Amino acid sequence: MSLPPLSAYPALRLRRLRQADWVRRLVRETVLTPADLIWSMVVHEGEGEVPVGSMPGVARLSVKQCAEAAKQAKALGIPAIAVFPHIDGAKKDAAGSLAADPNGLVCNAVKAMKDAAPEVGIMCDVALDPFTDHGHDGLIEGGRILNDATIEALVAQALVQAQAGCDILAPSDMMDGRVGALRTALEAEGLQDVMIMSYAAKYASAFYGPYREAIGSGKLGTGSVDNPGDKKTYQMDPANTEEALREVALDIAEGADMVMVKPGMPYLDIVQRVSETFKLPTFAFQVSGEYAMLMAAAQNGWIDEERAILESLGAFKRAGAAGIVTYFAPRAARLLGA
Ligand code: PBG
Repeated sequence: MSLPPLSAYPALRLRRLRQADWVRRLVRETVLTPADLIWSMVVHEGEGEVPVGSMPGVARLSVKQCAEAAKQAKALGIPAIAVFPHIDGAKKDAAGSLAADPNGLVCNAVKAMKDAAPEVGIMCDVALDPFTDHGHDGLIEGGRILNDATIEALVAQALVQAQAGCDILAPSDMMDGRVGALRTALEAEGLQDVMIMSYAAKYASAFYGPYREAIGSGKLGTGSVDNPGDKKTYQMDPANTEEALREVALDIAEGADMVMVKPGMPYLDIVQRVSETFKLPTFAFQVSGEYAMLMAAAQNGWIDEERAILESLGAFKRAGAAGIVTYFAPRAARLLGA
């Protein structure tokens, strides 16, 4: 195709609207603010903070520090925190029994954060993997991840989280039917105000690698019959889009208030299709591997760290996300001038 010369379009100069900061701001189509961020945070049972090697700038925090961080979130205008536990390896078992401990690490962290900053929303991951010695999200029998038995364990876990004061349950396990089971259980327990943000389209991704270090579930996939090599029988095939829409439709029908796409940046097309199709708050998770990649490149001087953080987060908004779960939340909020 050959285009007419530029002189044929004397009025078409799109650069006119880019010539100064004031006009760029004036015509900007999407805006990132601290209110778009959910702070992804790792809590551990010990004292003080333990840096996560593969995620420079991220550390596991003590319960006390989580409470301080909740106050910080409030000051920075970050609406919510998503908490993930690092459990001592000696306390894990094949069934992930401690997931439903009402006096366990997650519940203690939730209570401490809600005490410190009741105005900040707290979201809990509903999944067994931090608590299972094999690192899978479900119960295993004969090499298979059991769906319905896992759901029973998830319901027990979610109820203790909700009773501890968690505002948003975020099932990340990808068992079929778990959202409906959680919603039914919440209604039965008089916990109907607890929100559900389902990890509706969650892919079997390589980008969760650093998270395994962060929460200490490094044993995943030893390949023995009791520990399948990957999560591909429950998490989605990265090649699929239509299936993501089916997953989301089901979760909404089962009672999800909000949905999430995960990972984030390599899946912006899914974020866009889900938000356009269902018109409900659609979140994206900028996962550990995305954080690690950006930080590794920045630390090598290959990309500008601050610009890359804000550009990557802004891209989610452009794709139609209502917000982003991110380890960069406090950094980004400060960069945004909070
Ligand atoms: C597991 C869970 C994972 C993450 C959040 N919840 C890992 C997995 O599914 O294997 C990943 C978070 C991240 O990579 O930042 N239920």
